[in-house]
Amino acid sequence: MKIVKPDPSGISRAAELLRKGGLVAFPTETVYGLGADAFNKKAVCRIFEVKKRPSFDPLIVHVASIPQAVSLWSDTPPLALRLMKKFWPGPLSIVLPKKPAVPDVVTAGLETVAVRMPDHPAALRLIRAAGCPVAAPSANLFGYTSPTAARSVAEDLGSKIDLVIDGGPSKVGVESTVIKIEGGRIVLLRPGGITVEQIEKASGRKVRTAARSSKLESPGRMKSHYAPRTPLVLIGGSSAAFMKKLEKLKDERKKLGRRLKLALISFSAKPPEGLFSATEVLSPKRDLYQAATRLFQAMRKLDKMKPDVIVAEDIPASGIGLAIADRLLKASAGKTGWNGFLRLTQRLK
Ligand code: TXA
Ligand code: MG
Repeated sequence: MKIVKPDPSGISRAAELLRKGGLVAFPTETVYGLGADAFNKKAVCRIFEVKKRPSFDPLIVHVASIPQAVSLWSDTPPLALRLMKKFWPGPLSIVLPKKPAVPDVVTAGLETVAVRMPDHPAALRLIRAAGCPVAAPSANLFGYTSPTAARSVAEDLGSKIDLVIDGGPSKVGVESTVIKIEGGRIVLLRPGGITVEQIEKASGRKVRTAARSSKLESPGRMKSHYAPRTPLVLIGGSSAAFMKKLEKLKDERKKLGRRLKLALISFSAKPPEGLFSATEVLSPKRDLYQAATRLFQAMRKLDKMKPDVIVAEDIPASGIGLAIADRLLKASAGKTGWNGFLRLTQRLK
């Protein structure tokens, strides 16, 4: 796999590869994407193979303009136009009924297609130079933490893809918000870089949350996802309460027998001495945007140290915090609270 700079020669090489049916990883403001020409079914199938992604999980199509998005949908309601004008380029994916020309492999057989215009100059130049919409999931192995740096893409997929454009670290750090527009209603399928509050303000409408339906409407909403390989336990509560629980953990740990190696992802608080072998503080000044930017790198870094457990402090679920809290919960695969922690550590002994 080659790593190229987002300069004219790097971009034209990547665009050429896309046109020939190759796979190219590219930077966006949210996370790195693994792109293929959205109209090349074979290339899109390869994305699923390389990522080990189940074929029922639809892809987001990336465009470089509003008209290019409109050309993929059978009908574009005024509400969608208003949101695109307000938030594009940016981390908002809009799901609407697709034109028949959009291949079924892209949408996993759904009648709708998710489209977004990324806010990254290299991504936009690539899409323009390729001359086609680019279908792209996050450039990680399915279920694993999304990559926010070219290096992380190389770690996950290095031997299986042709090229990565290194555009530096992703500035948002969590994936795009996915919404579906249906009969004038806005339904949230995945919280992300554009907040519910921003969408409600711009649209003048309430954003509904999709029911935790039996139907796999958006597999990003499945229980275990965005997860490190190390078991992760999510601990809720305020910062002060969190500190108290950490002290309690210190006592519990004495009872645990074998010395377990614990790592911590905290929002802002520093843990008591001697408890964790590694700590990642997401934002000492409690800035949710900074926390979002650092989240996935923090998970990857701690994962590499191979601790027995990663303990993560829950994040206030408002604004972009909703997206961070969602990713942490999915990474925990339901292991939450002290009981979750104790159950897990009992098993590890
Ligand atoms: O920020 C992002 O969205 C990144 C960058 C690369 O653009 N992409 C990304 O793609 O996160 P991916 O494939 O990892 O997640 C896409 C999510 C999935 O949960 C998928 O189920 C949902 O979007 N999705 C895509 N098309 C859909 C559709 N037609 N209906 C409902 N959900 C859809
Ligand atoms: Mg993904």
